[in-house]
Amino acid sequence: MASTAPSMTQDSDALARDYEQVSADRQFASGQRLAKALAITTGERVLDVGCGTGLLAAHIAGIVGSAGRVLGVDPLPLRIELAQQKARANLSFAVGNAYDLSSIESGSFDVVCLNAVFHWLPEKAGPMREFARVLRAGGRLGISGAGRDGQSPMRTAVAKVLTAPPFNQYHRPDALTHPVEEPEMRQLYIDAGFDAPRIDVHDFTQNFASPAAAIRYSEASSFGNLLGHLPEALRPAAREAIAAELARVAEPDGSITRYGRRIIAIGVRR
Ligand SMILES: C[S@@+](CC[C@H](N)C(=O)[O-])C[C@H]1O[C@@H](n2cnc3c(N)ncnc32)[C@H](O)[C@@H]1O
Repeated sequence: MASTAPSMTQDSDALARDYEQVSADRQFASGQRLAKALAITTGERVLDVGCGTGLLAAHIAGIVGSAGRVLGVDPLPLRIELAQQKARANLSFAVGNAYDLSSIESGSFDVVCLNAVFHWLPEKAGPMREFARVLRAGGRLGISGAGRDGQSPMRTAVAKVLTAPPFNQYHRPDALTHPVEEPEMRQLYIDAGFDAPRIDVHDFTQNFASPAAAIRYSEASSFGNLLGHLPEALRPAAREAIAAELARVAEPDGSITRYGRRIIAIGVRR
């Protein structure tokens, strides 16, 4: 795996609980759209890779009903702990990683989905082959994730603050995430043994009530990777400096707009 994989040791109880809250009307909404695009039906077996705190997996468990089953896996134990509280007869969770699905039997799922996860994977061909392996022939792989953003006030503010003293003495990888564009996504599916996928790319905007809300969202969604490379004592100062930068580009009501791009791909395993 490339060395720029995100750290899995910066998460905390507070960030996991924050994620449950901040994702409820953001990542969860895009996950629901992914589930719909995948046309998941009663009785299907679904693997949710990078399930986080389990909101989407629980939603899908409602769709597949008692004849189906959903397994959510995520490398972050604290998020899996929150997800476990949603477990029921057809819904289970386990700590697991897209780079090692060896505990899952080949051909044992009808659907594999990843929502807001794929851009966190620095190397994608290996996981794609694993998704194909655990799917039955004719099973579907659905991926919804970040595309390459244009304008991002948060990225600009963070880059400015973290490259200035005193924060610049602590190393953080330049690129935390690894989004792909449509041609690369298409090739990844084909190379892993899928038919050419259906791909939709669209721009979207998100609004955060304040700079602090935008920072909280970014810290929780990055499971602490935004500022986790800094000593804990320095993080409040970094948040303050980022908030000041964001305030310069705030809307008249003080809110922050994020411009993003989402790529959604659905492909059938040959
Ligand atoms: C923004 S959250 C999305 C969580 C959830 N899918 C949702 O829709 O709310 C990104 C998730 O990707 C997970 N992730 C990052 N690297 C991963 C990997 N190598 N394998 C599986 N999951 C990973 C993180 O642990 C985190 O829970």
